[in-house]
Formats: sequence, C-alpha cells, structure tokens
Amino acid sequence: MAVRVVLLGFGNVGKAFLRLLLDKEELLLTRYDLKVQVVGLATRSRGVVADPKGLDLHACLAASSLTGLGVTELGDAQALLAYLDGHCDAVLEAINASHSDGEPALTLLQSALSMSSPAHAITASKPPVAFGYRRLSELAAAHGRRFLFESSVMDGVPVFSLLRQLPGACVCRVSGILNSTTNLILTRMDSMGCSLEEAVAFAQEQGIAERDPSDDLDGKDAAMKICCLSTVAFRRHLDPAQVSKDSIRGITLSQVRAATARGNALKMVCEAELVDDEVRAAVSLRELPLTDPLCGLKGASAAVTVETDVLGPVTVTSTNPTTLDTAYGLLQALKLSNKASLVAIQHSVAAGARLRNDVQEELLSSCYAFLGKDGVADFGMVDQVIREQCESKKDVPPLNVEAFLSFKGRPWPPERQGHPRLAANNSLIRDQLGAKLDFMVFLYRKLDEDDDGCQRKNRGASVFQLSPDVALMSERDGELTGKQAFARNANCLKLEVLVKLEGGDEKSFLLEEEKLRRLAEGLPELPLQFKEMPDSSSSDAEHFVKMRARNLGGWSTWSEEVVTSSIARQQGADNAQRALEQAMERRVPEDLMKVLKDVRDIEFDDKTLVSEATELLETLQAVQTKVGEAMLSREPERLQHVLGEAHKVALPGLQKAEALLHHLQTVCKNLDTAKGIDALRAALRDGHEARLPAAILQRAVQRLGTREAAQQGLEMAMEAARVPVLRAALDTAKDMHLPSEEGARSLLEAITHSENLLQAGPQKGRGGTSRAGSEQAPISA
Ligand SMILES: NC(=O)c1ccc[n+]([C@@H]2O[C@H](COP(=O)([O-])OP(=O)(O)OC[C@H]3O[C@@H](n4cnc5c(N)ncnc54)[C@H](OP(=O)(O)O)[C@@H]3O)[C@@H](O)[C@H]2O)c1
Repeated sequence: MAVRVVLLGFGNVGKAFLRLLLDKEELLLTRYDLKVQVVGLATRSRGVVADPKGLDLHACLAASSLTGLGVTELGDAQALLAYLDGHCDAVLEAINASHSDGEPALTLLQSALSMSSPAHAITASKPPVAFGYRRLSELAAAHGRRFLFESSVMDGVPVFSLLRQLPGACVCRVSGILNSTTNLILTRMDSMGCSLEEAVAFAQEQGIAERDPSDDLDGKDAAMKICCLSTVAFRRHLDPAQVSKDSIRGITLSQVRAATARGNALKMVCEAELVDDEVRAAVSLRELPLTDPLCGLKGASAAVTVETDVLGPVTVTSTNPTTLDTAYGLLQALKLSNKASLVAIQHSVAAGARLRNDVQEELLSSCYAFLGKDGVADFGMVDQVIREQCESKKDVPPLNVEAFLSFKGRPWPPERQGHPRLAANNSLIRDQLGAKLDFMVFLYRKLDEDDDGCQRKNRGASVFQLSPDVALMSERDGELTGKQAFARNANCLKLEVLVKLEGGDEKSFLLEEEKLRRLAEGLPELPLQFKEMPDSSSSDAEHFVKMRARNLGGWSTWSEEVVTSSIARQQGADNAQRALEQAMERRVPEDLMKVLKDVRDIEFDDKTLVSEATELLETLQAVQTKVGEAMLSREPERLQHVLGEAHKVALPGLQKAEALLHHLQTVCKNLDTAKGIDALRAALRDGHEARLPAAILQRAVQRLGTREAAQQGLEMAMEAARVPVLRAALDTAKDMHLPSEEGARSLLEAITHSENLLQAGPQKGRGGTSRAGSEQAPISA
C-alpha cells in the first residue's frame, strides 16, 4: 500500500526522517506492505517542490537546494498543500514552530486537515500540540483523519502510545524530566564542577541547547511538553501559561554541590496531576534523593513516570536521543495514521448522509470511505452490508456487496486508495432480491477511543435510506408543504401529489427531478396552488391529499392521507371576498358580522380587507347601540343627535327610530302649544301615552297647575266683584287662555262702567262723587 506524504521542514528532523525511510524501505514494504512516497517537500529558504509520483529522496538529501528536484516548484508550504490536495494521505510537519503561538506550523497542519481531500496531520513539534490540540484534533475527527504528535515529547519514545494503551486504567499523575537541556546543564555542573554559564556553553556546543537557551532555562519548553502529555493523559487541554515554572538562571555551583553533599541531586521536574477534575501542572527545581529513578538520568536524557490507579508507577526513559529518535516518532505516527483508517471509515460513512446533493443520477445512496489494505480497513471489513427493512422479509439473505456496490462505474473494490465512493443502486438490488429495499445498513469494525484514551475495535453501523420517505404534509398559505419527502437522503427523482375531492374529482400533480433538486436546496415547499385543485362548490367540502416519491428503486408507498377543508375554503376565497365587500357596502352590522365569521379562516389577496371590515363592523355596532339606547330613553333631542351620527356612518334600518323621533317631537310640540286647560290636559295625556321622559311631562304638569290656579283666582275674583281683585286675577291669567277669562274681563268692564255712571250722577246733583266711597260700596251685579 502506498502512502503519499508531504514533508514540511527539511532540517535536522526532516532529513533524519528521509534517511530513516530509505533505511527501512524494504522492511516497511515486506513486513507492513507500506510504501511511503514523499510527494512534496517544503523549506523556508531552500525551495518547495512537489512530484505526485514521488520525489527522489537520495537527490533531496544530497542537494543543498531543492530547486529542480520536483516536477513543479511552489511558492511556499501553503501553495504546496493546495497543489497536492487529493494527492497526499499525510502531512508531516517538522518546521521550527514559534514557542509563543505554534505558528506557522499550526496553520499548516490546519490546512492539511481542511483540504478538500483532508490528510492526516502529524507533527514533530510541541507548540502546535500545546496551543492547537483541541482545534486540530476536532478538525481531524470531523474529517475522519488523525492528528498525531508522537515526536513532540521524548522524541521517538512512544509515550503517547503508552498513555493511550492502558486499558481500564485511569492516569492520575504524570511526571518526569522532559527538558534534556536543563538535565545536561545540571549534571554537567555537578560532575565537572563548572558554572551555569560554562555548562550552557557546553550544551550549545553539543547542539543540544539553542543559541538563546531561555526557553530551556526558564522552564517554558518543559511546560509545553507537560501540556502535550496532559492532553492525552487526562484528556484535557492545558495552556502552557497555566503551568507554574521555575528557572535555573540563578543556580550556582555551590547550590548544586550542597544538594549533592546532602545525598540528593537538583532536577527540573515536570509534573501534572488531576485534582478535583482539574489538571494542575508545574515545572519546578527539586532536590531529589539519589534513590529516585529520575536521578539516574545523565546528560541529555529524559524520562516520564506514569501513575495510574491500577499499576505501580511506570517509568520510560530516553537516553541521549538523536534526531533519529524524532524521525522514528514520525514514522510511528505515519503507521498509526494508516491504522486510523478504521476511524476514518466511521466518519466517512457517517458523512455520507450529507452527500445527497452530490449523488449522481444512477445512484441512490452513496458515501465515502477510506479503504485500504493492511488488514484493518479493506473491503473485507465491511462484512454485512444490507438488510431488508420489511419485517415480513426478514429472511432475505445478506447480499454480496460486490453485486451492487460500484465505484464511480468501475468494478468493486476500487484499485485506488484514498476515499472511494460506495454507491448502491436500488434497481440492481431489486433485480437480485425481487424486493424493494427501504434502507441499507453498513456494518463495519471501527477503532474507538475510550474515555481513558485507549483504542478499541468496536462494531459500527450506518443506515442509508434507499426509499423516499413521505411522511408529513401540511398546507399553508395556499400551498402544500411536504418537507419530509426530501429529508431522508433518498435521492427523490419525482414526486406525485394526488388531490381528491370528497366523492368527486381527483387531480394528480407531478414534480420532476429538476424542480425537486432546486427545492431541496432550500426548504422544499411544494408550489401547488389550491385553486388548481379539484373545485369544490361548498367551503366546507373536504379534500383528500396524499403524496409519494420516486427514485431509481421505484415509487414509495403513498403517504398517509391528509384530509383538509382548507383547500375548499381557500378556493372559495374569491366568492368570500366578494361577499365581504358587499356586506361592507350594505353596512348591516348583523350581516357583516356573519360574513366575517364565515370567512375567518380564509386568506385573501387583499390582506387589509378583513381588518377594514372588522373596523367598520365595530363602528356600525357602536352607533346602532347608541340609537337603540336613545329610542329607549325617548328623549327626542338625544334621539335626534344619535340619528345624525347614524346618518353620517350610513347605518341602514333607521326608519323606526326616525318615526319615533317624529312622534315624540309632535307630542312635545303639542304640549308646548296647547291652549287653555283642557287642551293642555289632552296634550299631557298624549305625552304620557308616548312615554315621554318624566322631566318633559313634569314641566307640562306644572304649567297645567298654574293655569288651574289662575282659573280659580278668576272665579273667586268674579264672586268678589271688585275691580282691583278682578284686575289682579286677570293679570295672573294673562296668555293662559282660561275659560273664565272672558267673563271676568266683561264683569270688570261692567263694574268699571257702572262705577263711572255712579260717579257722573252725584256730580251733576251734588257737585262730585267720592273715590273712596266707590271702593267701599260694592255693587251687586
Ligand atoms: N532536532 C530535534 O532533535 C528535535 C527533537 C524533537 C522535536 N523537534 C522539533 O522538530 C521541529 C524541527 O526541528 P529541526 O531540528 O529539524 O529544525 P531545523 O533544523 O531548524 O529545521 C527546520 C526546517 O523547517 C523549515 N521551515 C521553517 N519555517 C518554514 C516555513 N514557514 N515553511 C516551510 N519550511 C519552514 C526550515 O527551512 P530552511 O531549511 O529554509 O531553514 C527548515 O528546513 C522543531 O519544532 C523542533 O522543536 C526537534
């Protein structure tokens, strides 16, 4: 099996890796059937080259510049990844990444995992792990790839593999000496009796310490490494900034010697443990007893002790590692990533459910799978592929995969490694089985990681819908909706909707593939207008609607029938709109109310119509109520005012109110104009009969009383037959048209006349008459 690799960084580690590949080429091929092809190589300043068929590794190792060694030259590492997208299985990164943020390695690894054909991402550097573990491992999981970093701590020592392979054990503490530079410095000071500066210079001469050894001396390198270990040991991300760090910058020879005199040794110890579900980590300068295994570490060696709840502490040591150790770590990861195919399958198969738009016409269902040889993920592991859904056909034997799986039209299994497409054609299956399948189940073995980080082979299953599933349909806004018909990745080619009127016509609507695909991109709502469906005369009529879908495997069964009267109601919408408009014109509240009630579920083109009608109804009803109340009150003025309002809103049916107003006004007028007592009495009687308000009648009764009193006054004055009394009574009765008014006036005139005569007689006889005497001597009429 060929595995195509891109190597980013061609320094100490990169070169050691190529040398290792050349050394182990034959062994890898014969023992593991693994042929590693380096298809791309990137440096920062010495060229970036690619050859999809594989670069000449000898030539690359021999040349000082890579220029001219590939079939093409690229600008930088990113361009190399873009160029080799689809032509590489793993990207190995061995560039000197920044210790403050892991760049540019972090971004390059991310790109490797995000290519349209994602590759496994393997790093020799610790910063991408310390700063980007979560991001990179999630990305890897999402694409069915792996993010591996065995060389990032203790070079090629398989310390991460150890942590992942402690089945059932819980890691509670990880500790050790992870920075070989400080270990070399401290042991050198002790053994050679030299100063810190001299020991640092020695480490630099040996190529172990950097020109600027700050990261080693200040514990930063060790902190980053303990973070990398924590991610796998405790399955928790730990930021290097969270690790407390000691520095050995101020250490003196006398301090080192004093520790030795006490039978101890100074060591930079890294440790991380799980306390209350939190990882606590530190890099600290410790004085350890010489009996401690860590004190046995000399020079640039490193060690890790793993403590679990079941084993005694397990210590792994790396003695004076070289770049070969690191290169071997890369190779291990490469081999592991190949094993990871099983995990890839799981993700790929699951991803198949998202590929429906990608499905070609002749395929019902498809998925991508990473299938290789190596006994872990090849064709044979997909051991049972198909099941029949229908209970009654349970005894249908599992099918031979090769009979119905194809790879883009080519025979199965595909020759090409990588991500072949698994495809099932239901019509082929139907021909073989004589039965239509509703779904297909892939059973496969897969590698799962347990909570404790251990990998296990488990069985996995993925279900693929082969038959369209038409489960739900509803109607809205004058259209049918059948979302579920498209939801199950069953690659519908046609959709039929049958609409039948209760006891009457039926009509079928066929939606073709092109439209369905377009619909499937958004929310597939069927653009089937209610007005095109069998016409119903009554708005209560019921329509029966059902739907089925077709793919290469044939038609699905019909969906359950939806019974709805909303189609009829909607169809009657035009009539209803007209009825509403007419009712608004007629302005009869009861009528308008009824029509509004009838049309309440109908959606009109003119959305404002119903609200306008409702508003009009409220106005008319308010005025109508006022008219009724005014009629009951029988107050002519109020009734007249309200009728004015009713005319303004053109409320119909006002005749009765108007007649009443006229009658009341007439009666009131009579009351006001009735002359004398009898006429007023008659008018009052009419007023009572007309049930005029009491206040109006009261006023008339008072007027009648006044008139009767004046009449009595007249009568009494006539009896008294005296001029002043008669005059006063007549003044009171003025304009009352009283029965005795005329008599009283005649009597007054007669008395006045006779008095005049009497006065004229004595004047002639006795020279005048006395005025006082006439007032004191009443004359009998
Ligand atoms: N050396 C070890 O024993 C050891 C052990 C464990 C882990 N590691 C880690 O492995 C990584 C590599 O170490 P090393 O010793 O091989 O370093 P190195 O000798 O300095 O080589 C670094 C390589 O990366 C290239 N490079 C830098 N930036 C690049 C970019 N942006 N694009 C493409 N290439 C780029 C360099 O290009 P140029 O050639 O143009 O400079 C060089 O080829 C480091 O992260 C280191 O911490 C090393």
